[in-house]
Amino acid sequence: MNLKKILITGGAGFIGSHLVRLFVNKYPDYKMVNLDKLTYAGNLANLTDIENAPNYEFIKGDIVDADFIHSLFKQYQFDAVIHLAAESHVDRSIASPMDFIMTNIVGTANLLNAAKANWTDLSSKLFYHVSTDEVYGSLGETGMFEETTPYDPRSPYSASKASSDHLVRAYYHTYKLPVVISNCSNNYGSHQFPEKLIPLFIHNIKNNKPLPVYGKGENIRDWLWVEDHARAIDVIFHKAKVGETYNIGGHNEWKNIDLIKVICKVMDKQLGRPEGTSEKLITYVTDRAGHDMRYAIDATKLKNELGWTPSLQFEEGIEKTIQWYLTNEEWLNNVTSGAYQHYYEKQYNNR
Ligand code: NAD
Ligand code: TYD
Repeated sequence: MNLKKILITGGAGFIGSHLVRLFVNKYPDYKMVNLDKLTYAGNLANLTDIENAPNYEFIKGDIVDADFIHSLFKQYQFDAVIHLAAESHVDRSIASPMDFIMTNIVGTANLLNAAKANWTDLSSKLFYHVSTDEVYGSLGETGMFEETTPYDPRSPYSASKASSDHLVRAYYHTYKLPVVISNCSNNYGSHQFPEKLIPLFIHNIKNNKPLPVYGKGENIRDWLWVEDHARAIDVIFHKAKVGETYNIGGHNEWKNIDLIKVICKVMDKQLGRPEGTSEKLITYVTDRAGHDMRYAIDATKLKNELGWTPSLQFEEGIEKTIQWYLTNEEWLNNVTSGAYQHYYEKQYNNR
C-alpha cells in the first residue's frame, strides 16, 4: 500500500506528540501533517525537536469545523488518517459533556465524511481511529477486556469515544471505508498534561500540594508506557487487516493507592526528601461520579497476529517518567500557568 501522506490529528497532545516524533524520525519518505486545535492539552513545545523536519508540517485547526476539514482533504489528498484528536479527560467530561460530544463524535464524523468524499481508490487508503479501553465499561475483580467484549461506556468521555468507534465501524460496513481501530489502556510517560493521575501527582508532590485520591483509592487501572502505545500504532498502521480492531495494553494492573505510594517513594528518592514525606500529602476526597472500578486489557490478538509486546517494565517507566517531569520544569511551569491554575483552584475549593 502507498501510505505516504498521513494526516495525524491531535499530534500536539500527549500520545499524538510521541506518535508524530516516532513517524517523523522513522519514515523520512512519508509526509506527516499534524492537525491540532491546540486546546489546553495541545502544546507545540512537545514537538520542538522535530518541528523543522522536512517531512513534517503543522496545521492549526478544529476537526469540528466541517468546511475546513473538507477543504483540507481536497488540498492535501491524504493517503491515510491517524485520528487521535479528542477531549480526553474523564473529570472534564463530567463537568462539560458537550465539548466531548462535539470534538469526539462530531469531529470524528467530519473526518469520516471528508475521507469518504475525497477517497476514490479505497484500496490504497486507511482511516486509523485511536480509541480507549474505557468503551468496554468497568470490570469486577476478574476478567479482561477482549476485542469481542460488548461496549458498555459509563462516562460522557467513554460514551463519546464509543460513539466515534461505532461511527468508524459503520462507515466501514456501509461505505467500505478502509478503517482500523485500536483500544488502549491508560498511558503514562513524558508530555502528559498534569490533570491525569500520574503527572498531576508528580506536580503536586513537587509543590507540596495535597494528593486528591478519589474514594478509597481501590480502583484499578492497567498502565502502558506511551512510547509502547506509539510503537503499537505503528505496527497496526502498517500490518493490520482492514476492518479489524486491536486491544493494546501492558498487562500492568495497579490499584490507584498502590501506584500512588510508588510515585511518593520515587519522588522522595529523586527529590532527596526523607522517605514517607510525600505520602503525608495523600488526601482522600469524594469519589468521582460513576467511577469505573477496574480496567484490564487482553492484548493477545495484537501479540499473536502482529507480534507487538510492551518493551518497558513499569518500575523503570515510572522512574523515567518522574525524572522527565523533574528535569523539564519549564514545560511543567508553562502548562500549569494561567487557565490551569484557575481550573485547579476551582476543583480544590469544591472538594
Ligand atoms: P490529549 O488530551 O493529551 O491530546 C488531545 C489533542 O487533541 C490535543 O493536542 C488537543 O489540542 C487536540 N484536540 C482536541 N480537540 C480538538 C479539535 N476539536 N480539533 C483538533 N484538535 C483537537 O490526549 P491523549 O491522552 O494524547 O489522547 C489521544 C487519543 O488517544 C485520544 O483520542 C484518546 O481518547 C486516546 N487514548 C488516550 C489514552 C490515555 O491514557 N491518555 C488511552 C487510550 C486512548
Ligand atoms: P485518570 O488519570 O483521570 O485516567 P482515567 O480516569 O481515564 O482512568 O485517572 C486514573 C485513576 O486515578 C482513576 O481511577 C481516577 C483516579 N484519580 C484520582 O484518584 N485522583 C485524581 O486526582 C485523578 C486525576 C484521578
